[in-house]
Amino acid sequence: MKKLIICLELLFLTGMLSAQAPKFIRLLPPNTDRGISVMKALSLRSSTTDWDTAGLILQDLSDLAWSANGMNRRETGKRTAPSALNAQDIDLYILLKSGIYIYDAAEHLLNLVAEGDFRDLAAGSQPEAAQAPVICLMVSDISRFNAGEEDQRLEWAAIDAGTVSQNIALFCASEGFATRPRVTMDKGNLRKILKLKDSQYLILNNPVSYNKVTDN
Ligand SMILES: Cc1cc2nc3c(=O)[nH]c(=O)nc-3n(C[C@H](O)[C@H](O)[C@H](O)COP(=O)(O)O)c2cc1C
Repeated sequence: MKKLIICLELLFLTGMLSAQAPKFIRLLPPNTDRGISVMKALSLRSSTTDWDTAGLILQDLSDLAWSANGMNRRETGKRTAPSALNAQDIDLYILLKSGIYIYDAAEHLLNLVAEGDFRDLAAGSQPEAAQAPVICLMVSDISRFNAGEEDQRLEWAAIDAGTVSQNIALFCASEGFATRPRVTMDKGNLRKILKLKDSQYLILNNPVSYNKVTDN
């Protein structure tokens, strides 16, 4: 039964079964045994501009979200990425062909925010980035900081987003996946689609794909 559900979810994810995006995608538990050493991952980390278009399988999507900003200490609710004042100000949006999802770290699932393919908005003036099957988008809600003036909160927001982005980069380096941290995006239209509040800032995005194999 579990296998059947995973297969159906995969078909939904790749958009093969239905034009409609599922309301939520239940992610698989993180596989903390996968990957290479941190030192090897650091030696391989790099930014790509060459994207493979194949969709990620559910385990890879699940582990990507968990590596980025998953809950790694259930007793305190703390995350794989640190945050200033433990404000957990970064929301991780995941843009797929089928829709935009927000990652619920406590439940380890993706909730649908907007149906449809909006990867071109995250790609912005670098349209090739829309070829990546997954774009991770880091949005900070600076109202979650219970101290600091606005300029300081914005500084913390940028640092916190950078940490999530680096978690993504290390996961990708470890798995041989392609990624690139990017500030480029169509912030105006993304704000509208995501219905962001004034206190929410679009900071960074990381397209993610399998490594594109070239014939040369
Ligand atoms: C905060 C930040 C913003 C970036 N924004 C963009 C961007 O908008 N577009 C882009 O192509 N690369 C962007 N990059 C990627 C850098 O160009 C890249 O990291 C740099 O060339 C070094 O290459 P490396 O990551 O392979 O070491 C950004 C990197 C960082 C850290």
